[in-house]
Amino acid sequence: MNTLRHMLDFGSLNDEEWDSLCREADKIRQNPAAYASARQGAVLATLFFEPSTRTQLSFQTAMLRLGGSVIGFSDPGCSSVAKGESLRDTVKIVGTYADVIVIRSPLEGSAYAASLYSPVPVINAGDGGHLHPTQTMTDLYTLRRELGRCDGLKIGVCGDLYYGRTVHSLLSALARYKGNKFYLISTDSLRIPEYCARELKDSGAEFYEVKTIEECIGELDVLYMTRVQRERFASAEEYQRQAGVYVLTTDKLRHAKSDLVILHPLPKVDEIAPEIDDDPRAKYFAQAENGLYIRMALILWLTENMEHANRKPIHSAYPIPAERICRNPRCVTSREKYLPALAVGDRCAFCAHLVG
Ligand code: NCD
Repeated sequence: MNTLRHMLDFGSLNDEEWDSLCREADKIRQNPAAYASARQGAVLATLFFEPSTRTQLSFQTAMLRLGGSVIGFSDPGCSSVAKGESLRDTVKIVGTYADVIVIRSPLEGSAYAASLYSPVPVINAGDGGHLHPTQTMTDLYTLRRELGRCDGLKIGVCGDLYYGRTVHSLLSALARYKGNKFYLISTDSLRIPEYCARELKDSGAEFYEVKTIEECIGELDVLYMTRVQRERFASAEEYQRQAGVYVLTTDKLRHAKSDLVILHPLPKVDEIAPEIDDDPRAKYFAQAENGLYIRMALILWLTENMEHANRKPIHSAYPIPAERICRNPRCVTSREKYLPALAVGDRCAFCAHLVG
């Protein structure tokens, strides 16, 4: 019997599963008509508690191009959440309407929390400043298409490494591949969070924390730019101190390899000079398009033979005593009080912060 699968963290995919998703995405791209009714009658729900352009629209387009339909909201003010409904109730109900739920929320661990109660697969479309696994699928699928590989690369990641959930998912995924070397380009305040640094160290990957793009750009095979995540700062002043520090210009690019791949999860604000859009090394628009095909492949995979699936989700987390509960104020457990205290090793199962 199949087991209900979710996409909460890229790390839950094994190499074989990831490879087969990429091959499926290639097949869809080559012959979209063959998939036009692959999920006829199926419904995808997008529950977006935070703004989105690409992620939400690409998931909706993906389901529509598979012949299914979409429901959902992008303004939680219009849903019963505004009346105080819990995430648990919302997900239980929507799971009876839809065959797959895509969720984005400002709370870390919210998709994991949803998966504890959902009768259908849950896809994490971004949980606060924690993870964004389908952006990582988009990024890795793009590297595979552009470079033919994800290993043995020198990768610069620049900008908001602290709050950037795409960065956390990407580093964790790329650390699985042999021979990657990371250059983490950020200010002191926006260095990667503790759990990310721990994961990189445990993986044995080589990484350097640097202050400027200039000191490593000549080495890089890949440069992953990100915006400073304004919405996660406590005050406008704090944001202003970090904004505009890193800007990729044509001048800096003069020192880069001719086959550098420049990625950005988008939206970009001012961290890439507009004229770089025309540089053949800028791959971020192709990257956004790739996201559609890989999301189509993901929906197909998660909703395969669901009528026979064992709907009881399997989680490796274990309960911990209430006094050891997560103290991260951005964790979903700080808001949704009915959630059980769960850990994986010495970390909160929801947000990966260390527990007591
Ligand atoms: C990213 C996100 O939402 O984390 N956007 C996206 O999904 N492509 C990056 C960002 O907002 O900076």
